[in-house]
This record gives sequence, structure tokens and C-alpha cells, in this order.
Amino acid sequence: MQEVNVGIIGLGNVGSGTLAILTENAEQIALKLGFQLRVKALCSRSITVKPAADSIFRTTDWRQVVAHTEVDVVAELVGGTTVAREIIDAAIAHKKSVVTANKELMALCGAEIWDRAIAAGINLAMEASVAGGIPIHTVLREGISGDRVTTLYGILNGTSNYILTEIEKHGSSFDSVLQDAQRLGYAEADPSADVDGYDARSKLAILAALAFGEKITPSDIYTEGIRRILPLDFQYAHTLGHTIRLICAARQTPDGLILSVRPALIPQSTILAGVQGAYNAVWVRGKYGADTFYYGRGAGAAPTGVAVVSDLMRVAREIRRGSPERVSPFAHERLGEYKPISVTLQHSAYYLRFRVVDRPGIIASLAGVLAQKQISLEAVLQLPSENRRDLPFVITVEPTSEQSIREALAEMSAHDFLVEPPFAMPMERSL
Ligand SMILES: NC(=O)c1ccc[n+]([C@@H]2O[C@H](COP(=O)([O-])OP(=O)(O)OC[C@H]3O[C@@H](n4cnc5c(N)ncnc54)[C@H](OP(=O)(O)O)[C@@H]3O)[C@@H](O)[C@H]2O)c1
Repeated sequence: MQEVNVGIIGLGNVGSGTLAILTENAEQIALKLGFQLRVKALCSRSITVKPAADSIFRTTDWRQVVAHTEVDVVAELVGGTTVAREIIDAAIAHKKSVVTANKELMALCGAEIWDRAIAAGINLAMEASVAGGIPIHTVLREGISGDRVTTLYGILNGTSNYILTEIEKHGSSFDSVLQDAQRLGYAEADPSADVDGYDARSKLAILAALAFGEKITPSDIYTEGIRRILPLDFQYAHTLGHTIRLICAARQTPDGLILSVRPALIPQSTILAGVQGAYNAVWVRGKYGADTFYYGRGAGAAPTGVAVVSDLMRVAREIRRGSPERVSPFAHERLGEYKPISVTLQHSAYYLRFRVVDRPGIIASLAGVLAQKQISLEAVLQLPSENRRDLPFVITVEPTSEQSIREALAEMSAHDFLVEPPFAMPMERSL
């Protein structure tokens, strides 16, 4: 049977990993497919210094890869939302299927790109865009597509999870763990996308679209990063039988879908609490199939490369055997019940952490604000501390609305005994 030819644009982490797997594992891939999957063309700005077989066409101009008459599938592994978008647009115009790892672009305008891909009769595969080594797209689009998803929780940013678990293990500050992570290459020089939650937000937008069949954009998702987490938050969380993770959550409520990326307390007994270091995990609850859990490496050349190569194999099979009828993962009918609604409508128990200059009557005045907002106080915790000018303590409250908590925090912030504004995290008890 005739071979299928691939053009790879972008030879950084993911592109190099993809090329290495396609080369080293070529024999087994051909056995699984029944035909050869060949790399025909490669492109990167520094292509001259990239090692590759002489038989492969090499260029710095991505247009030559897309227009190459023998290239059947284009792998867009450049990233970003400008050149990557031009590459995918050009591939669609040339009626060539595309495999991409680009979460940012897919979260921003995946729905529109998918519509054009379907109209052109080509395939668009994006498994590598979320949770690199976990085949979560295939799970949601095929494995559990017969279920009706009610809740999805994820740990989707490896850098944040690494930082949080290092703070937890060693009691070091956020800044010192971040510096170590940058030195070891686990965090970017500009860490904002990771530690402020934006990378996780793009991934949640894609997963929620797949899980709920809704058009979800990053702006539908309440996002808060991990910069305010202190080692003492872990001490208090442990005292409460919990730990802290950057939790990506999409949950169906009677009024609509509530979406958030934020640090949260989760019970130490939950399977998500065991996700350590740079690992990712996705936990899905369905109306019929109940709970399923997926775990693996969220990034890295080889795990992400496996996702890209597996997508290339899927697309190649379709090219050889004819395309099945295709529905965009972003283009389901809006069902209303899955319409994104504000996080302020969320109900949860909360952990409230204060740092104060010690003086009598502080707890009474904070409790007064809570009572005024109809919020029931559950516990007050204070671990031993010597520093009377920066004394931490924690109040936990019974389930209430995010709106009420925000109003209470705004009112509390006016008190001059606070060293910094109060810090709130939801306590996820349904896990
Ligand atoms: N890294 C991961 O573990 C991971 C995991 C999941 C998804 N992703 C996604 O995968 C994509 C690629 O990420 P990466 O980490 O591999 O990025 P990267 O290491 O920065 O690699 C980007 C590649 O694109 C090439 N490139 C950039 N602009 C180009 C242009 N105008 N023309 C031709 N080539 C160009 C670069 O060429 P030069 O090297 O010659 O400059 C480089 O080879 C992104 O969408 C990312 O979000 C990454």
C-alpha cells in the first residue's frame, strides 16, 4: 500500500521528539498501520543545524512544506497564535490535514478553524495540545463519548504542580522554588503563563469544549495563579486533612457550567492529591459511567511526541481508508444547561488565611463581617508563631457562594490590622 507523507514545521522540543519517534519507531508504526508513515519535509528557522536524513526536504520557509506536492499531512509544532495560524490556514487551503500541539491557538479560535477544516474535508488533530502524554482528547471524543459528563477536574500545568509539591515537601518559598525550577529548566524565564494559570486556562477551555460540547473561550474561565501560596498554607491544609493544587474545574450546575483555574484545598485522600511534580491528571465524572481518572506526563519532547505521532497515524489511516463523517469538538449545539456562568455563583466551603498585626478583638471583627454576610464559620486555626507583627491564622467557613465570600473579603480588607489582603481558596469536598 502507498505510504503517507508528513511535513513537520517546528523542530523545537515537540518537533524534535516527534521526528525522533517517527524515525526510531518507523518499523513498528508501519506494522501497526499497514503502510509507511514517512517524514518528507522539515522546517525550522535554524534548519541547517538540525540533524535529519539527506532524503528529507529541508527548508526555513514553512510555505514550502505546506505546498510540497508529496506532503499529505502537516504537523504544526511552532506554537503561538500568529505564524501557527497562517500555517494551519495555508494547509486547509491546500486541502491537507493538520496535526497540532497548539493549545493557545486551539483555545482561542479552535472552533472557527475546525469549521473551515470540515468544510475543506480535511482532518485536524490536536491530542498533544492538552496534557501532552495523556490521550485525553481520545478519551473524551471516543472512550467515554457515550456518557454525559457532569464534572471535570484537572491538574493541567506541570510547572505549577512541580512548584506546589516542592513547597509542600521542603517548606521553601514560592520565589525560591521558582528560581530553582528556572535553573533546572522546569520553568520558563517568563513564568507567568504557568504560575498565573493562563496555560492551564487554555487547556481547560479545550477540555471543557470536548467534554460538554460547548463553545468555550478562555475568557469564560475564572483564573487565579499560585503566587500567593505560602509554605504555611500547606501546614494549615495538612492540619485540615487537605493539600493544595492548582485545580482546573468545569462543573455542571442547574444554572450552567462553572469554569475555574485556581489554587484549591483538596482532601489528602483524593487520588488527585497524589499527583506530584510535573505530572498531569484529569478526573472525569459522568452521569452513567461515574468516575474515571487519567494520569501521565503533561509535557516533554517524548510524551508530547507520542501524542503527535499517534495523531499522525490516525490521520494517515483516514487518508488511506477514507474519512469518516466528522463533527467539530467545538461545534455542538448549545444545550443551555452547559452555558458558562459566573464563578460567583459557585457554592463551596472556603479556607480564609489572614496575616495580621496582633491585637485584641481581631477574630471578633472578622467573625462579625462573616455573620453579616450570612456565612457560617466552621473553625479557627492558629499554628504557633513568634512574630506578633505578622501573625498568620486561618478561618474555614461552611459552604457559601463565591459572591458572598468576595463581598466579605472586600469588607475585611479595610481593616488596618491586616499585613496583606486576606487570601481565600475553595475547599473541594466532592472529590
Ligand atoms: N514543550 C512541551 O512539552 C509541549 C507540550 C504540549 C504542547 N506543546 C505545544 O507544542 C508547540 C511547540 O512547543 P515547543 O515547546 O516544541 O516549542 P519550541 O521548543 O519553542 O519550538 C518551536 C519551533 O518552531 C520553530 N519556529 C518558530 N517560528 C518559526 C517560523 N516562523 N518558521 C519556521 N519555524 C519556526 C522554531 O525554530 P528554531 O528552533 O529554528 O528557532 C522551533 O523549532 C506549542 O504550541 C506548545 O504549546 C509543547
